[in-house]
Amino acid sequence: MSRGLRIDGHRLNAAIDALAEIGPIPGGGNCRLALTDEDRLGRDHVVARMRALGLRVIIDRIGNVFGIRDGREHGPAVMTGSHIDTVRTGGRFDGNLGVLAGLEVIETLNAAGAATRHPLAVAVFTDEEGARFAPDMLGSLVHVGGLSLEQALDTRAIDGARLGDELARIGYAGDAEPGTVAARAFIELHVEQGPVLEREGVTIGAVHDLQGISWQAVRIAGQSNHAGTTPMHLRHDAGYCAARIACRVRELTAELGSGQVGTVGRLRLRPDLINVIAAEAELTVDLRHTRENTLREAERRLASFLDSLAASEGVHIETESLARFEPVRFDDALAGLVADTAVRLGLSVRRMTSGAGHDAQMMARVCPSAMIFVPSRDGLSHNPAEYTAPHEIEAGANVLLQCLLALADPA
Ligand code: HGY
Ligand code: MN
Ligand code: MN
Repeated sequence: MSRGLRIDGHRLNAAIDALAEIGPIPGGGNCRLALTDEDRLGRDHVVARMRALGLRVIIDRIGNVFGIRDGREHGPAVMTGSHIDTVRTGGRFDGNLGVLAGLEVIETLNAAGAATRHPLAVAVFTDEEGARFAPDMLGSLVHVGGLSLEQALDTRAIDGARLGDELARIGYAGDAEPGTVAARAFIELHVEQGPVLEREGVTIGAVHDLQGISWQAVRIAGQSNHAGTTPMHLRHDAGYCAARIACRVRELTAELGSGQVGTVGRLRLRPDLINVIAAEAELTVDLRHTRENTLREAERRLASFLDSLAASEGVHIETESLARFEPVRFDDALAGLVADTAVRLGLSVRRMTSGAGHDAQMMARVCPSAMIFVPSRDGLSHNPAEYTAPHEIEAGANVLLQCLLALADPA
């Protein structure tokens, strides 16, 4: 019977639109930075839906939320889920799809009166984006023991707030120890956030690996001086140095080949005035590659450039690592289950790599994990115009439903 079960596509797409009403921004997207009031409202909305579905809700000390549907047997759950925190220019699908599709699977099973041997769990991980509190995937990293709870709670936001204080303020400092909710397998449904599936006209991505991530903050201390009177050779211009670093990051991607990406996403100058040579600059550098040794080479070349720039411009440059994750290989059998399930449902599918970071990469440290991608129109994400068609949402959620059933109620 379960192999014939299908999710309700209208209900799922309506659930996505309902959550998108919380923290809306022009263009149809969302801004729910981690642990802000908007994040709290989103969490409240999802927890209410979990309780309405009869799930047991557990909240851990880093604010991860788990909705659990008991099985005939006790023990580790077959888990799905993702995140509902967003970047400032977030779309309505990034993360939200994985959580809401997991709840749609639960609602479908409830409606069918379908029990499973193993428990099912839907996870909402804290601060996946890392945009306010670095690193990204912070909540799932704590869940798998990759970051101590104490260190995570003491993390400072880009606005200066302490993570633990914000968690308490929004009422999501739970009492369960991180890692309490064990998983026997984890599958995450997510929008691709890139151009591959759409370009190839493929509906489902069976994600078998995920590229390495290197985030660092770069702080430059120069000397403020008069923009008009200071001869060029006497300047220690932090603004000029920041611009040179941004250009060097772009050059690195060309030198290291098509798989290397590099981004300067944040750049602030002080005193940030038209007629003052910048005394200080702070910028962030995001480098990624599928191969660890190439990522390390990108980091090495950047570090060498910073040293020579500091010497030639007479400024002081220091860096701070904000996140560093090696490339991750997902469970091949699980990626195969995703691909086989898509084929069985008559959907086009291709195996692929994830360019973005995801909570699944942390869960891969503790249990067999894999991901399901659905297309992103124009490959756009971290942009309010992010869009995936309703039939693609439905297709991805049906693959998720059938994969979870294969794992939770093996024949
Ligand atoms: O940065 C990332 O890849 C993810 O969106 N946190
Ligand atoms: Mn995401
Ligand atoms: Mn994201």
